[in-house]
Amino acid sequence: MSLLFNAYPLARAALFSMDPEQAHEHTLRALQHSHQCTLTRLLSATAQPTLPRTVMGLPLRNPIGLAAGLDKNGAYIDALAALGFGFIEVGTVTPRAQPGNPKPRMFRLPRARCLINRMGFNNNGLDTFIANVKRSQWRSKGGILGLNIGKNAATPIEHAVDDYLRCLDGVYPHADYITINISSPNTKNLRSLQSHNALDALLAALQSRRQQLAEAHKCMRPLVVKIAPDLLADEITAVGQLISHHGIDGVIATNTTLSRDAVRGLPHEDEAGGLSGPPVHAMSLVVIRQLRQQLGDKVAIIGVGGIESGQQAIEKIQAGADAVQLYTGLIYRGPALIRECVQALDPLY
Ligand code: FNR
Repeated sequence: MSLLFNAYPLARAALFSMDPEQAHEHTLRALQHSHQCTLTRLLSATAQPTLPRTVMGLPLRNPIGLAAGLDKNGAYIDALAALGFGFIEVGTVTPRAQPGNPKPRMFRLPRARCLINRMGFNNNGLDTFIANVKRSQWRSKGGILGLNIGKNAATPIEHAVDDYLRCLDGVYPHADYITINISSPNTKNLRSLQSHNALDALLAALQSRRQQLAEAHKCMRPLVVKIAPDLLADEITAVGQLISHHGIDGVIATNTTLSRDAVRGLPHEDEAGGLSGPPVHAMSLVVIRQLRQQLGDKVAIIGVGGIESGQQAIEKIQAGADAVQLYTGLIYRGPALIRECVQALDPLY
């Protein structure tokens, strides 16, 4: 496994010569392969960085998580967990399988260490997702798993609640927490669910269904809302009020941005989709600070966006996050970033 960590800069050169989506699939398959090899599995068992934290009542081995979207079907949970994450989030899953947007739909902007994606919730649907999650061993070994839910592109936005409820019903018994993704820029009108009336109705429906599910399964699972970095201050306030009012347990701040200010003039800058990587760091800090100030300690905040060094993980926590997640930093830095972040946070606690 240490070979895997140290060899990433070399592997990256090869991966970056491939189409980004192909490189993504290739890497996941290679990770799975390596994980299935008994020797690498044994070696990785000793390599887990620990810095125990409790967030939303959940015992995290360390506060560095995998962000949603890297493993949309939950097909690689155990292999990804072996990289040293303290928690893993998979999805976004939608009730029915859907192909997502036409390819190409993922672009690298290496000079800014960013990605632009307009994947559009490509996934194999809820049933396959649940089967994959059930097959993984991460939870049975004490790992914390977040399942991220969304709506199908073909479902009219007026019926979005039905899709979220269907996903909630399906994933509830298999999740440690459930993320309600209302902030992908790549599903038409999805972000309109962040507006006051739509969010009020959505959260009311999900909270009431969660109550029923908690009774049926005899366990209360935290609900978390994932929001965009492009919200204005008064919109963040409104979201914060609804989160508080409906007893939502946490916020993930943030998803990708529509802004291109930081990448003007770079190749692919004008591709449609969400931008991820360093420019999202400062944007998400603004959201985290405001929500922490507004919500006090009652709501957990998971900070995500543009973490590419231990220092940025520190800044997320100092802004008010309880834990952080990584995506684009992993593509550019490789899995060594996980340990670097854990080590950087160690003196804070
Ligand atoms: C994402 N992200 C994402 N988020 C989500 O909630 N559901 C999803 O399906 C996806 N899909 C997805 C695909 C790709 C290719 C990327 C790059 C990102 C958003 C991701 O979880 C994270 O919030 C942002 O990327 C910001 O963090 P980073 O990448 O700057 O660390």
